[in-house]
Amino acid sequence: MLERARWEQRHATASGPPTTPSPFVLRWARRVRGEPGPSPTALDLACGGGRHLAALVQAGWQPVGLDFSRAAARQATAFCPAAQLVVADATALPFRAQSFGLVVVSRFLDRPGLAGLGNVLGPGGVLVVETFLEDQHHATGHPALRFCLARGELARLLAAAGLVLEELEEGPCASGPETVHLARSAARRPLA
Ligand SMILES: C[S@@+](CC[C@H](N)C(=O)[O-])C[C@H]1O[C@@H](n2cnc3c(N)ncnc32)[C@H](O)[C@@H]1O
Repeated sequence: MLERARWEQRHATASGPPTTPSPFVLRWARRVRGEPGPSPTALDLACGGGRHLAALVQAGWQPVGLDFSRAAARQATAFCPAAQLVVADATALPFRAQSFGLVVVSRFLDRPGLAGLGNVLGPGGVLVVETFLEDQHHATGHPALRFCLARGELARLLAAAGLVLEELEEGPCASGPETVHLARSAARRPLA
């Protein structure tokens, strides 16, 4: 609850539009939308101010943004009116199995929840994760170590979720004017 109040305050005092979407997320959103099969609905889990929602619309998806902060959901709706916003806790997803063709998890980490994300993906759907490595904590002190991945950990979590890894990068990368230490992956739910 403390964590939620902290994020609520942070979003309530945020100014300006969200920063630009991740090129990695964008590339995979375009690629999966071009494939036959998966549902045209995409989930942006812990969407914040919605920097990926408008990009998902542009890539041809019908996006659903979920965040537990009402202030974040308001910002995301203002930024991307075409998206459906759900205010809920990502640790207890209010979605039916196989609802989405794409799930995006950016700069958010819930290890037990990751195991269940394969369930809300339809067969052939793709989970794209981009979040902080422990190197980021060691370089800047943020985020807290428990919200950062060890190198190699993401591959293990995705395999445990029954997803097949299609791309994985771990290391420093440019994010606007900053260098951020990230793990980025795309992993697919098998067809059968
Ligand atoms: C660092 S921001 C990332 C926002 C967005 N995904 C992005 O990449 O710009 C983390 C987001 O996770 C949300 N969040 C944290 N814990 C959550 C939870 N348990 N359920 C839903 N949202 C949560 C926060 O409100 C915040 O918007």
